[in-house]
Amino acid sequence: MLLDGTTIVVTGGNSGIGEQICLAAAAEGANIVIDYVVHPEATDALIAKIEQAGGKAVGVEADITKADDLHRMVQTAVDTYGRLDVLVNNAGVEDRKSLLEETEEGYDRVMAINMKSAFFGSQAAAKQFVAQGGGGLILNISSVHEDWPMPGNLAYCVAKGGMRMLARSGGVELGPRGIRMVNIAPGAVDTPINTATTSDADKLKQLDAAIPLGRLAEPKEIAEVVVFLASGKAGYMTSTTVTVDGGISQGSVGL
Ligand code: BGC
Repeated sequence: MLLDGTTIVVTGGNSGIGEQICLAAAAEGANIVIDYVVHPEATDALIAKIEQAGGKAVGVEADITKADDLHRMVQTAVDTYGRLDVLVNNAGVEDRKSLLEETEEGYDRVMAINMKSAFFGSQAAAKQFVAQGGGGLILNISSVHEDWPMPGNLAYCVAKGGMRMLARSGGVELGPRGIRMVNIAPGAVDTPINTATTSDADKLKQLDAAIPLGRLAEPKEIAEVVVFLASGKAGYMTSTTVTVDGGISQGSVGL
C-alpha cells in the first residue's frame, strides 16, 4: 500500500475534506491521528469506520488555535505510533465579510483557525521531525484564494495568502533538513464550508457554470491528492502549491 506505516495527523479531521483525507490515507495503510474540537461522536464514528476496514486511527481533542494543544496533538502521534511522518494542516473556516464589514473578532477567528494553526502546527511538526531525524512532510490545505482574490471573503483570502507564503518560506528553511512543505489549493468543494451555496439552487447553478469541469469537487478528490503527495512519489516537491480546482481559477467569460 502507498502509505504503509506512515503516521499522519489531520487537523479538523472529523468532517469535510479532513474526514476524507483520514479515510483515504487509512485505506493506503497509514496510521491516522484525527484532530477535532467539536463532535466527538463524529470522530468515534470515523475511527470505527477506519477500524472496520482494517485501518488504524485515534482521535485527539485539540484546539488548533493554541500552540500548546498543537504540541499535544503531535505528541499523541508519537505516543501512539512512535513517530510523526506527515502533518496535514486542514482545519479552516471562512466568514464571507468584505474589508468594510469585517470585525476585529471575526478577523481574529478566521486568522487563528486558518493561519495561526498552520503556522504553529508546522512548527510543532517540524520540531518533532528534527528530533526524530529522517525528514518529514507538512501539507497545508489552503485554497485557490491563497492567490486568487475573492471579494467579500477578505480575511479568508488574507489567511490563505499567508499559508501560501508559509509553505514557500517554510519549505526553504526546512529543505536542508529534508523536511518538505506543500500546499494543496482546492477550488469549490462540496463540504459544510459551501453549504450556503450548495443549498441554494440558483447559487449552485452559477457556481457550476463558473467551473470549467462544470461541478464542485467531491472531498475525496482532494484527499486523493494528499495520498499522492504523502506517498513518496512526490519526494522532490516542496515550497509550492498543487491546485485542484476543476479549472475555476483560470476560468474566463471571454469578453
Ligand atoms: C472557498 C469557497 C469558494 C471556493 C471557490 C474556497 O476556498 O472556501 O467559499 O466557493 O474557494 O472560490
